[in-house]
Order: sequence, then structure tokens, then C-alpha cells
Amino acid sequence: MHFLSTKQIVNREQLTDLFRETDLLKSYKLGQEQNRLSGKVLAIVKDEGSTRTRMSFEVAMKRMGGNVTLLDLDKTTSLSKGETLEDTIRTVSQYVDIIAMRHSQKDMVQHCSNFSSVPVINAGDGHGEHPTQALLDAYTIRNECGRLSGLNIMIAGDLKCSRTAHSLLHLLSLYPDNLIHLVSPKDMMLPDEYKSSNINYIYHPELDSAIAHAGQHLDVLYMTRLQRERYLSEEEVMKYLNERKTPFLGDWESLHKKSGSSSYYILNSEVAEKLNKTCCVLHPLPRNEEIPVEFDKDPRAAYFKQVKNGMWIRMALLWKMLTNNDFFQKLP
Ligand code: NCD
Repeated sequence: MHFLSTKQIVNREQLTDLFRETDLLKSYKLGQEQNRLSGKVLAIVKDEGSTRTRMSFEVAMKRMGGNVTLLDLDKTTSLSKGETLEDTIRTVSQYVDIIAMRHSQKDMVQHCSNFSSVPVINAGDGHGEHPTQALLDAYTIRNECGRLSGLNIMIAGDLKCSRTAHSLLHLLSLYPDNLIHLVSPKDMMLPDEYKSSNINYIYHPELDSAIAHAGQHLDVLYMTRLQRERYLSEEEVMKYLNERKTPFLGDWESLHKKSGSSSYYILNSEVAEKLNKTCCVLHPLPRNEEIPVEFDKDPRAAYFKQVKNGMWIRMALLWKMLTNNDFFQKLP
């Protein structure tokens, strides 16, 4: 069965089971994880940039004894000869045992999964979902906080387009008594389709005032970047990236101003000062300006531990999916 959305995780036991497997794999010495997936091949298919998701899937499969092939959906494929994406996926699924697919359009991975004869994992679909990132985020929260219930969690940034936040919120809704603070400009608020009736939300338009209000009580601060590529053309994004020295905050700033907010979403020293001393700070990465590198040495910074957990969780996920076809149910 495909894994396209965290909505396919319908109870806590499923997560507990996956986390138990992840803990076990983590307990082995690196390089001694057994060749459990020997002979299996994973295809990574993508049309968007990816560092952590691509590498951690690749390393996870290799550490389990399997093999990996990468297909970048660019002009080096037969798409440039007029082949459809559907036929491309039909083809890939003839060669491999499982596919991890990332696509820049929302719902495109779900659509393509209909043409695959092997399981497809959604590795991020546009501004939709990123379910495997949510697994590693939840796993990191459980490790850092010791639980996934009764937590005060603040999720800040571009909540309209942050697919990692969309997927994570569903997992958090499976546990009781979580209070979620959503912090975003008005024009980047969380779409209703990712809200759950089981969870209490408080909305804040600015990070400064949100932290002043709730910072002392937070267990987790989850930062996200502005998803420039969802609002701007590729050329405009490259222009901003190339001009890093000049006002890199240009569009972020104008979007904030447009939404009536005067402050940026930056974890600067004043914000860090007002934050609970035991709060764990997460970010799916890549970061832009929202977490200055100076914060990395703060004991609350857990985003590189989060990166490493991504490898363990994907090892466990590949194992579960390749040995139990019913591990995930169809989307309800
Ligand atoms: C995220 C993604 O691609 O959605 N990164 C990741 O997979 N670790 C977050 C982002 O791009 O902002």
C-alpha cells in the first residue's frame, strides 16, 4: 500500500510500532543494521530540490542492504520526448520494489501512485503534504520531550505552504491534550483542510508577541521557512538567493507588511531569551533567515538531531512497507 498522507495513520499504535522499529535500528552500531532489505531496490523520483529527504532515503535503503536509483524529472528523461508522467511512473514501477516521489504540484504524487504497480511514498507534494518528514518530526518530539501528548507546541512561519507542518499536525491530533500555537502572517495561515477537531489551536500573527504570550510554557518551537518557490517564479527565487547579501528579506518583508505585520519570523536573541529554557527547537530545514546560525550552539536547538532521526525513521519505514503490504490503509 502507498504512503501518501499522514491521514493514513489512524491510531497511535501504528506510530508506536514504527517508533519501536526505529529505536531498534538506532540501537545497532552504524553499519551493523543487517542486510534486511538485500535485493530490494528503491527509486527516488523528483522534480524539486531535495537534500535531506533524498539522501536519508538513499542512505536508509543502503544501510538496510538495498539499492537505490534516482530519476530527476528534468530534460534528461523521456518527458522531454513527450512521454507523460503517468507512463514514466508506470515504467519506473516495472524496475523497482518501492518508489519515493517528490513533486512540485500538490496532489501529483497521489495521482501518480495510481499508475504504479509498487508502493509509492510521498516525499513531498507541492504545498500539500510531507508525511515521512512528519514521522521524523513526531519521533524527535517524542525523544526530546518524552511524550507526544499534553504538549504546548508552537508552529511558526509560512503555514499555508509548509507541507511538513500540514502532515505533522495530523499526527499530533492523534494524542490528547496538545495545545498548538499557530504563528503566521494573515495571508499564510494554515488551510482549514489541515485542521483537526481533536486539537486546540491559538492563532498569533507575529512571532514576537506569540513568544511574549506563550514562550515560557512551550515544549516545542517548530520553525518553518518562507516557501518562496510557491509564490515566485524560478528566476525570481534565484535572484533572491543570488542576492543574499542585499535585502534577502525583500519578499518575506513585503509579504509581512502586506499582511499587516511589522516583525519578521526570526529566532533572534530577544526571542530566544523569552523562550522556555527546556523548549526544544525544531525545523524541517532548509533554513533561511528564520534561525540564525548563532542559535545552533543553544542546547535547545534540536534540528540536526532531527535530521539524523530522518535516516532511522526511513530505515524503519522502508522495512515495514516492504515486509507488510497492509502497514498503511487506504486514505479514509
Ligand atoms: C522540507 C520540504 O521539502 O518540504 N524539507 C525537507 O524535506 N526536510 C521543508 C522545506 O522545504 O521548507
